[in-house]
Amino acid sequence: MPKCIIDGREVEFTPGQNLVEVAKKVGIQIPFFCYHPGLTVVAQCRMCAVEIEKMPKLQTACSTPAADGMVVKTRSEKVIQAQKATMEFLLINHPLDCPVCDKAGECDLQDFSFKYGDAYSRYTEEKRTYLDLDMGPVIKKNMNRCIHCTRCIRFGTEVAGIHEMVAVRRGNSTEITTVDGRPLETDYAGNYADLCPTGSLTLKDFRFKKRVWFLKRTSTICEGCARGCNMTIHQDNNVIYRCTPRENMEVNKYWLCDEGRFNFRYVNEESRVTVPMARGEVDWDAALAAARNALSGKKVAVLVGSDLTQEEAQLLLQFVPRHLGEAPLYHFGTPGIRSPQDDMPADRILKRKSKTANLHGLEKLGLKGFEALPSGTQAVLLVRGGRARLPELKGVVTVGVGVFRADEAQGFAAVLPGASFAEKDGTIVNFEGREQHLRRAINPPGQSKLLSEILMVWANSKGGTHV
Ligand code: SF4
Ligand code: SF4
Ligand code: FES
Repeated sequence: MPKCIIDGREVEFTPGQNLVEVAKKVGIQIPFFCYHPGLTVVAQCRMCAVEIEKMPKLQTACSTPAADGMVVKTRSEKVIQAQKATMEFLLINHPLDCPVCDKAGECDLQDFSFKYGDAYSRYTEEKRTYLDLDMGPVIKKNMNRCIHCTRCIRFGTEVAGIHEMVAVRRGNSTEITTVDGRPLETDYAGNYADLCPTGSLTLKDFRFKKRVWFLKRTSTICEGCARGCNMTIHQDNNVIYRCTPRENMEVNKYWLCDEGRFNFRYVNEESRVTVPMARGEVDWDAALAAARNALSGKKVAVLVGSDLTQEEAQLLLQFVPRHLGEAPLYHFGTPGIRSPQDDMPADRILKRKSKTANLHGLEKLGLKGFEALPSGTQAVLLVRGGRARLPELKGVVTVGVGVFRADEAQGFAAVLPGASFAEKDGTIVNFEGREQHLRRAINPPGQSKLLSEILMVWANSKGGTHV
């Protein structure tokens, strides 16, 4: 493998890798703004300047591929001076409103200004100001904080496939905006807030809700469709505030779709049933008794949400024959998607047609998609994680186990409240057969329990077996 020397350290690299990435390998940070590994390189902010032996001028590390034998300095006097000058230039119009900016605490501009900038600015002219711009349902733009890095424009054209985001005018008057102030028409708008290196593009859903340093992060998987994008849940005090993408080049690269990003809202919803129900709130003993009575002596079918994990489905496969006799099990989740063959790409970026995460896993366990109840079925045990779309069930007694809204559970003989994807650990299998792991970020709210706990209490309670 070819090698180069960065700040006196020898580093091996893959041909084609740029100096920012090669330096990262040995823990050397080269600051950058316009560069993003998922977008084309434009080398326009100049923040990543480095000194390279035998080259008279500083070079931009983002646009310079490492070469065998190259000797690079990232902290020479010349580089430090250039970084200070670039920071001063980028900040001439910046309002320095970090105390009221949502990006504070995770802002590249703030961090690099602190680390590589100067406390002094020679700029005494009046700063330009703009009103906040509404960019549709997801993003709010604050042009005052923009440094014209154009990451957002490139994301639009190169990834989202839209051309609404543009730069208008020139020089000091340059403005990043949408054509005629139109909203961003993409299902991937949330990524604009992630990739903006300043607080210029923020998520409306998250603005002013929580300072980022209060948030605890859990690495998990999106349950929004059969792709299983890697993401991080940010929570505080058992409340989820946002989800952000986690890089996985083989699954989702750097992105999340908005449906998956905001899917967590149902977890916090007030209408979620979080106490055991049997035509009204009851305690767990009464709800379990009502559930058993509702199924007892009847011909039962079990519908398993394809939003459950492999472990949960396996528990059900053991529990049902022991406690519900011959009851058949089917999976459900997305109307019209009953088998892996139905699960096609839903767009040209990430989304899949199966709107639940574990259709492919449940099929591997031998479950088949639900079409209709076998004739003579009198009762249904409906188990779901929270995202699977409920099938229409008429003329049968229903017992719900898992996550339901109050309006969905109306008419159920009993509801045993369970855990959503954010409240449990478990394995899911994506459309390519890749096993990935959900991680518990928060505790199940109220009296909700994990499915394993519910089945254990059911099996061990008085009258636990009704056949
Ligand atoms: S809005 Fe953000 S991403 Fe877009 S050009 Fe400005 S600073 Fe860069
Ligand atoms: S593409 Fe699917 S898995 Fe990825 S973020 Fe969207 S809903 Fe979630
Ligand atoms: S990151 Fe290299 S020039 Fe902007």
